[in-house]
Amino acid sequence: MKRVLAILLAFQTMLSAGVLELDIITYDQFVSRDEEALKQLKSALLEKGIVGIKGIPGYREKVNAYIEAAGHFFQLPEEVKEKYAPNREAGDLFLGYEKGKEKFKRADGEWVVDDLKVSYYAFVPDNESNKWPTEVELKTAYEELGMLMSDTAVQVMQQIDLIGPSTLDGIPRVGRMLYYRKSVEGRSDNPLWCGAHFDHGLFTALIPAVYFEEGKQVDEPADAGLFVKPTNGTEFEKVVANDPDVMLFQVGEFGQLVTNDAIKATEHRVQRPLAGSIERYCMALFFDVSMDMVVDSTSTLTNDSRYKAGGCSYQHWSNESFKRYIVAED
Ligand SMILES: [Fe+2]
Repeated sequence: MKRVLAILLAFQTMLSAGVLELDIITYDQFVSRDEEALKQLKSALLEKGIVGIKGIPGYREKVNAYIEAAGHFFQLPEEVKEKYAPNREAGDLFLGYEKGKEKFKRADGEWVVDDLKVSYYAFVPDNESNKWPTEVELKTAYEELGMLMSDTAVQVMQQIDLIGPSTLDGIPRVGRMLYYRKSVEGRSDNPLWCGAHFDHGLFTALIPAVYFEEGKQVDEPADAGLFVKPTNGTEFEKVVANDPDVMLFQVGEFGQLVTNDAIKATEHRVQRPLAGSIERYCMALFFDVSMDMVVDSTSTLTNDSRYKAGGCSYQHWSNESFKRYIVAED
């Protein structure tokens, strides 16, 4: 009974969520260092944890090509996609195909596996560790979009003093091509495509999601999509990101650690719609620092059991984060 009540409460909370006022500045304002726009960009990241930049040259075309390529890959038969899953026993990294491997703790304390979330991980820029399918052409669209997201996000991070000019030199970004399977296929008691969490790295860039129903592109359902708990707020709010010309940016936990809470990580989740048979495509690009970078932080995140007091390397923080959120192989 308690469990049923918790689920009902979760659904009700979702339906009553407010809408976040997303701050969007134009790319022209950004590159011309428009003072007001830069102020807005910074305060949005500090107070809400998310901001958008609109009108980046070439962006929309790259997103369109990427969505098409992602569709081709994810529509391949399961046994073909599985060929590209990492063989962890053989020491493979996380690169390639991943299906339903993450778990997040729900408000009622239960750990829930995101069984509808499917990913394809690759480094950006491309390197020899990446896996690419031979059945469909994925690499070009993936890498071209990833590089544009990388270049733009690096400028944003420099603008808010999260990194210096060479902090990320030589460190690949981690791309995550995301596909959320049909909303009707999941556990009926899990209203989420992706449970509430913070990204563990420095910073994240993402595209507005694209939705399909019965093979046709549809608008984002009002009750679905990315929800963010504003840094200065207490409740999750919906991010209306229906403009394909906008690139979005969020803050990760290591960003919070290195700035001693001057900037806070963005808590977010992805809701699936309660009606319809909807699929969702997205792309996230994660920014890591060097694995041997060590922080001795005063952030509240130092109370987290993943943190190592006295000096926590990014390697340690990453390993502990994966241990917490990745479902162990049987
Ligand atoms: Fe995330």
